[in-house]
Amino acid sequence: MSAALIDGKAFAAGLRDTVGTYAAAFEAKAGRKAGLAVVLVGEDPASEIYVRSKGKATEAAGMNSWEYRLPADASEATLLAKVVELNADPAVDGILVQLPLPRGLDDQKVIDTIDPDKDVDGFHIVNAGRLAVGQDGFVPCTPLGCVMLLKDTLGDMSGLEAVVIGRSNIVGRPMARLLADENCTVTVAHSRTRDLPEVVHRADIVVAAVGQPEMVKGDWIKPGATVIDVGINRVGAVGEVKRLVGDVEFSSASKVAGAITPVPGGVGPMTIAVLLRNTLVSAYRREG
Ligand code: GUN
Repeated sequence: MSAALIDGKAFAAGLRDTVGTYAAAFEAKAGRKAGLAVVLVGEDPASEIYVRSKGKATEAAGMNSWEYRLPADASEATLLAKVVELNADPAVDGILVQLPLPRGLDDQKVIDTIDPDKDVDGFHIVNAGRLAVGQDGFVPCTPLGCVMLLKDTLGDMSGLEAVVIGRSNIVGRPMARLLADENCTVTVAHSRTRDLPEVVHRADIVVAAVGQPEMVKGDWIKPGATVIDVGINRVGAVGEVKRLVGDVEFSSASKVAGAITPVPGGVGPMTIAVLLRNTLVSAYRREG
């Protein structure tokens, strides 16, 4: 392996510490703690784990954490009423509805019921619009975390060729926008891209966010490029211990890249750290 490892775990720990310092300053100034409310509908095991770690990290940073659980068969009206109640609660700075919602509930309708100024996930249509036109709002946590890692690794990114693989609303689309704002020349590649290896080979920066285990191979990567792997895929045959792999084949890519994020320990820990940061930003904005 010749690539430098981009240590997202360490960077995220530093960011959580910084948030903790500012959270204490906020409490001293405002006379209350900043607070994040998380709503979980149903009992999806992966979502339970996410929600528990979000709650722990929020409290560890010196902020209030509230968790609301609704049964998997909760009606849309019940869920929307909960969101409306949290919108009106002055102690709540951030609202996160854990996705995916159970079948029958409309993710975007629920998200768009959140007050955009409490939408710390940055998924509300108003925040997507603000990002698209360059206004201040909330930016989705995972792509913002990727940009923080890239800036820390590369410094000024002006003029670099960036290829984002994947065009989801949660990662690919906002990622492309953020990289353009950093003055990169951005290509968005996806499942219909012709000759993906050739497109990836142009890139100084590769961001892989497709959810396909080890899809991006080492010989696609331009020597010295910076590789950000957003994928978290659980692989292993039935009966085997599962292991986590990214969307990039680490064994081959790490021989060619200049710097690369590992899975786990790369992008993953950044998401919660940025969520805490967004919640604190919301608290300061709301207090004026
Ligand atoms: N499910 C998995 N990750 C996330 C996230 O960052 N936000 C929300 N709301 N749901 C998720």
